[in-house]
Amino acid sequence: MSEAQNIQWFPGHMAKTRRKLRESLDLVDAVAEIVDSRIPASSRNPELAGIIANKPRIVLLNKCDMADPVATERWIKRFRDEGALAIAVDCKSGKGLNTFKNSVKELLADRLEAYRKKGMVGKPLRIMVVGIPNVGKSSFINRMAGGARAKVEDRPGVTRGNQWFKIDNELELLDTPGVLWPKFDDKDVGEKLAFTGAVKDAVLDTEWLAMRLLEILSERYMPMLSERYKIEKGDSYDMLCEVARKRGMVVRGGEGDTLRAANMLLSEFRTQKLGRITLEV
Ligand code: G4P
Repeated sequence: MSEAQNIQWFPGHMAKTRRKLRESLDLVDAVAEIVDSRIPASSRNPELAGIIANKPRIVLLNKCDMADPVATERWIKRFRDEGALAIAVDCKSGKGLNTFKNSVKELLADRLEAYRKKGMVGKPLRIMVVGIPNVGKSSFINRMAGGARAKVEDRPGVTRGNQWFKIDNELELLDTPGVLWPKFDDKDVGEKLAFTGAVKDAVLDTEWLAMRLLEILSERYMPMLSERYKIEKGDSYDMLCEVARKRGMVVRGGEGDTLRAANMLLSEFRTQKLGRITLEV
């Protein structure tokens, strides 16, 4: 990626978001961080861990319907080893969300006990929901809050514009105050976000992106590639040409139309025609 692209990609709003996040952290009991199960490392904001520091954290591995279930289990274990509770969810269908509240209670068991001892019964747990754009944050909040979007008014003394959602008498969610961007200045991260469609293709060369995807997939998911495109493992450009030829995408002279093949491959990956795939292990 060129330097110009890096600059264009990096929005630089982090300072404002960082401040808003810190102010709002005092108002919540825990943070729910939503990541994309297909790229659990690349779909995170690089500064978030430092900002939320010791706040209890629950990681929602969203879009688990699109990811490799074995890899998702490994990620759950990995996050738990790091001291964060993690659950796999699909906010499109709502799968897995019924465990969210109990997981939060498990995460905050000590705090709930302390509230109980002080006679503070009935105090709702407040959770801040964070995630990079397109990770499924709105889908999560909508699913949890129901169609009515049970909004709570801005609380006095709180950062203006904070959006609270009352889920029930036990749980309230706070939408991220500000936009949390991923680590755009890292080429690998940028690529993975482009594969999943989280950033527009136009930013990167389509054929190059498809070749990189073939290269990565051929390491762990070659059987899926062979099954769908009848190709063998090889150099990424050769594989792309072969995909084009096998799909009858040829230009004059019998050469494979690699641009058409690249667009098709990326689209088929994003719509899960290849199967459930996790790009980061
Ligand atoms: P954001 O607020 O974090 O920016 O994300 P949002 O909820 O808008 O979700 C971004 C896209 O991801 C949406 O697709 C949404 O439907 C999809 N999505 C969210 N969670 C899941 C999930 O668990 N599984 C799957 N398969 N998709 C999920 P879209 O194409 O923008 O819109 P649409 O398909 O809903 O029309």
